[in-house]
Amino acid sequence: MRLSRKRWTICTISILLIFYKTKEITRSEEHQETQLAGEIFLSTSRLMRNASEGTFGKAPYFQHSVSGWRLNSSLVMIIRKEILHFLDAERDVSVVKSNFKPGDIIHYVLDRRRTLNISHTLHSLLPDASPMKNRRFNTCAVVGNSGVLLNSGCGKEIDSNDFVIRCNLAPLANFSEDVGLRSDFTTMNPSVIQRAFGGLRNESDRERFVQRLIMLNDSILWIPAFMVKGGEKHVEGVNELILNRKLLLRTAYPSLRLIHAVRGYWLTNKVNIKRPSTGLLMYTLATRFCNEIHLYGFWPFPKDSSGNPVKYHYYDKLKYRYFSNAGPHRMPLEFKTLKFLHERGALKLTTSKCTRP
Ligand SMILES: *[C@@H]1O[C@H](CO)[C@@H](O)[C@H](O)[C@H]1NC(C)=O
Ligand SMILES: *[C@@H]1O[C@H](CO)[C@@H](O)[C@H](O)[C@H]1NC(C)=O
Ligand SMILES: *[C@@H]1O[C@H](CO)[C@@H](O)[C@H](O)[C@H]1NC(C)=O
Ligand SMILES: *[C@@H]1O[C@H](CO)[C@@H](O)[C@H](O)[C@H]1NC(C)=O
Ligand SMILES: *[C@@H]1O[C@H](CO)[C@@H](O)[C@H](O)[C@H]1NC(C)=O
Ligand SMILES: *[C@@H]1O[C@H](CO)[C@@H](O)[C@H](O)[C@H]1NC(C)=O
Repeated sequence: MRLSRKRWTICTISILLIFYKTKEITRSEEHQETQLAGEIFLSTSRLMRNASEGTFGKAPYFQHSVSGWRLNSSLVMIIRKEILHFLDAERDVSVVKSNFKPGDIIHYVLDRRRTLNISHTLHSLLPDASPMKNRRFNTCAVVGNSGVLLNSGCGKEIDSNDFVIRCNLAPLANFSEDVGLRSDFTTMNPSVIQRAFGGLRNESDRERFVQRLIMLNDSILWIPAFMVKGGEKHVEGVNELILNRKLLLRTAYPSLRLIHAVRGYWLTNKVNIKRPSTGLLMYTLATRFCNEIHLYGFWPFPKDSSGNPVKYHYYDKLKYRYFSNAGPHRMPLEFKTLKFLHERGALKLTTSKCTRP
């Protein structure tokens, strides 16, 4: 009796899963047909076919230069419009208060079987309206965390952008020459709390964390809280600290559809990613708000183009296997895509030292 019920449950779940997968595939195929007409996409798709054929294995370390780079504004506009078919960053950058009430149950975006109960604390920190509503900038920097930034001297140049986006609450204080100090939008995966702040378990870790948040002033802290189960205690701890210490920063929590929409856009262009990295996610969002997007600290290779070792993060000792298929990201493929867009003037990708103008 119990066994057969279990079989039924498994069977129902499988059917549901197949249904979801089919729906997903059909949707991305639909998009594909409408999109492939665009010329940038035809060339991107050729590029991507090469990338997936493993051209990386043979010549992994790119020569890349910013000299002679020029913005192509009409291409920037085309890309913005294409991405708007998949998501509206103004809306999808964050859920808002009116989307939920305390006690609502949501399914995690990347783990649909698990659920999260929206707490009062979390609900009180949801913004009333999108923190990016009607915000437009001429120049934006998206700063990745690669060790390629060390000794780059890019700090001043990065800070001179009208809007600066940074990833995973990377430390700035002791690296300002190379990475700058300004941040208008900072992402923070819940896992950072465990990795860099001891899970906020003792007072000194909590204080160190609060000091880091105080340095954000009233800028945006973007917390992907609905992706996978596991970080909810950390998110709750962070939220309580923000409220109790009356911190000025403005919290944002990406919408439940954002990551699938971003993936859909890139898949449609044959950029065959499993899950976009935070860096690619930020570029995709920034196309909505920024005319000229400057990327720094994107370099998913263990050596630079002269063969010198490059750290994964500029600020810690973490190791990463860039070419492994086990991880969630395909960063060399993402990099090749960004380099392609750089060459066409859609964005500016700086991987070398910054020279003073
Ligand atoms: C892809 O590979 C082919 C043959 O290997 C080459 O001719 C072509 O230029 C490559 N395309 C890109 C965009 O790298
Ligand atoms: C800018 O990009 C568009 C679309 O790809 C292209 O048609 C145009 O020739 C480019 N302009 C320049 C100056 O490269
Ligand atoms: C969600 O949390 C609230 C407050 O802690 C609790 O009253 C409610 O029963 C929870 N709901 C579920 C379905 O767990
Ligand atoms: C910067 O470096 C100093 C000396 O090495 C260290 O005491 C301090 O904690 C560092 N600051 C940050 C924010 O990491
Ligand atoms: C916060 O404000 C101070 C003083 O204006 C500024 O130096 C600092 O760069 C700001 N922090 C960020 C993250 O922008
Ligand atoms: C707090 O925990 C960290 C590890 O997360 C440890 O290095 C530190 O010594 C602890 N501090 C105190 C005061 O217990």
